[in-house]
Amino acid sequence: MKTWYKTRITELLGIDYPIIQGPFGGGLSSSRLVSTVSNLGGLGGYGVHHLSPEKIIEIDKEIKLSTTKPYALNLWVSTKDKNADKYSIEEFKNLCKIFKPYFDELSIPLPEGPRSSNNNFEDQVEAVLKSKPPVLSFVFGIPSPEILKACRTRGIKLIGTATTVDEALALETAGVDAIVVTGFEAGGHRVSFIRPAEESLTGTFVLIPQAADKIKIPIIAAGGIADGRGIVAALTLGADAVQIGTAFLACKESNATDAHRAKIFSEDAKYTVLTKLFTGRLARGIQNRLTKDLGAIENNIAPYSIQGNFLSTLREAAIEQKKYDMITFWAGQISPILKHKNVADLMTSLIVETGRIYNRRS
Ligand SMILES: Cc1cc2nc3c(=O)[nH]c(=O)nc-3n(C[C@H](O)[C@H](O)[C@H](O)COP(=O)(O)O)c2cc1C
Repeated sequence: MKTWYKTRITELLGIDYPIIQGPFGGGLSSSRLVSTVSNLGGLGGYGVHHLSPEKIIEIDKEIKLSTTKPYALNLWVSTKDKNADKYSIEEFKNLCKIFKPYFDELSIPLPEGPRSSNNNFEDQVEAVLKSKPPVLSFVFGIPSPEILKACRTRGIKLIGTATTVDEALALETAGVDAIVVTGFEAGGHRVSFIRPAEESLTGTFVLIPQAADKIKIPIIAAGGIADGRGIVAALTLGADAVQIGTAFLACKESNATDAHRAKIFSEDAKYTVLTKLFTGRLARGIQNRLTKDLGAIENNIAPYSIQGNFLSTLREAAIEQKKYDMITFWAGQISPILKHKNVADLMTSLIVETGRIYNRRS
C-alpha cells in the first residue's frame, strides 16, 4: 500500500515527509529552524534575499554544521522595483508628510532621503553556487537560463514559486524541478511576476487543482495550511507536498521576536490584511494602526525597496518603545488554528494527524 508521505517531492528531494518549511526573508529565518525541520524529515528553508553574498556563505556553513539532510536557501529574483530608480525628491517629500506624525510620536527624525537596498540577485547567486545547498528556491521571477544551468550542473535542485497558473507554466517551461503554488492566504509577500500582485490573488485551494491539471512536474501547495486536514486537502487536490510558513514562524526555533509570536497566537491574528505600506510590495500581515489609518493611501508610498528602508528606523523605535500597533507582524490567514510552539511538536502533529485521516479513509 502506498503511504501518504511517499510522493514525487520526497523522491526528488530525498526527504522523509512532503512537508516543507517556508523560508522567511528579512531576518526571520534561523539555522536552528532549518536544521530542526530537516533533521525531522521535512525540508527546512532559509530566506537569504536580504543578505550580502558573504553572509549567505556564512549562513550556509552554519546550516551544514547542524544537519546533513537536504535543505533550501531562498532568494528573490527581483530585488528592486523597476520604478525605484525614478523615485523623485517630490515624491519623497510627500511620503515624509504622510508618515511624519508617526515619526514624531516616536520622537525620531524622518529619513533624509530615499534609499534602496544594494542587494543584487546575480551576486547572491554566486554565493549560492559556491555554497551548493541541496535546493535553491526562489520567488518574484525566473532566473536566467545560465543561472538555472549553473545550479543544475552543481546538483542544486530548483524550486520556483507561482501565484497563478500562467506563472507555473512559465516556470515549468524554464526547466525548474518543482513549483510552489501559493495562494493569497499565505503570510508574507505576494510573489507574483507576470501580472501585478493585486491581479494574482487566487486562493490556495483553487490554485492547486488548476495547476495540477496543467503542470507535469511536482507542485508544492503553500498558503493556509497548518495541520493534517490542510495537508490531506492539498494532497487530495493534486499537490505533491505542502509548504507551511506561519505555523513554523510561530515556533520558538524561528527568529521571530517574542512579541511577534505572541501576536500570531493572539485574537488580533484573526484579522490579517494584504498591504503595500511596509515594503512597497503587497504582503500579508496582522492588521495594525498604520494599516487602518493609511490603507487608503497605499498607492502613494515608495516602491520596493525604498519603502522598507524608509520605515526601518520607525520600526526599530516602535519595537524599542513597545508601540506594537505601528509594527507589521507578518502572518497568514491560518494563524487562528495554530497550537504548537516548537518544531518537534508541530512536525509530530502534522505527521500523526495526516496519517490518522488517511487511515480513517482507507
Ligand atoms: C514573515 C514571512 C516571510 C516570508 N518570506 C519569504 C521569502 O523570503 N521567500 C519565500 O519564498 N517565501 C517567503 N514567505 C512565504 C513562506 O515561505 C510560505 O510560503 C508561506 O508562509 C506559506 O503560507 P502560510 O503562511 O499560510 O503557511 C514568507 C512568509 C512569511 C510569513
